[in-house]
Amino acid sequence: MKDLVRQKLSIHVEVMDMLNKQIEKEAHSSSAYLAMASWCDHNALSYSAQFFYDQSLEERGHMMKIFRFVNDNGGTAYSPEVKNVIHDFKSLEEIYETALDQEISITQSIHNIVQKCRKLNDFTTENFLQWFVKEQMEEEQMMRRALELFDLMGTDGLGLKLLDERIPQIRESNLPD
Ligand SMILES: [Fe+2]
Ligand SMILES: [Fe+2]
Repeated sequence: MKDLVRQKLSIHVEVMDMLNKQIEKEAHSSSAYLAMASWCDHNALSYSAQFFYDQSLEERGHMMKIFRFVNDNGGTAYSPEVKNVIHDFKSLEEIYETALDQEISITQSIHNIVQKCRKLNDFTTENFLQWFVKEQMEEEQMMRRALELFDLMGTDGLGLKLLDERIPQIRESNLPD
């Protein structure tokens, strides 16, 4: 017989719906970064390619973190469908700009869920999401640092190659705890 206490949802149902939407967004981020990695690989920008392969894995990790949290707290997590992944880019700069835009919108989305948690007194989820609040701040900073390199080193020729070689340093200064 199932234990009724275990079946009880300890997160608010409205919050659970938002977390399932967030699972979709993290999955989309993971696929979007994979597409960027592919573009970089094809354009012989191997450091940026590696950067986005790593980012893609991290986003999958974020997705799984939320997925497990929902299921572990009596909710039901849904395996996401991923649509509208962009594969065509004009330049490496456009890729990092798109990545920053993506991170900004994810930050907003996380903040919206935290706001909802506060309204509904869902302290469990609010506490869980604090990790993501910090993570988003770091991810935005990382993309901004990458974009600063374009102002510093230019957007083509040797400058672009040298810029690409600087990308691992951006990730190293941003290792997760
Ligand atoms: Fe994420
Ligand atoms: Fe991210």
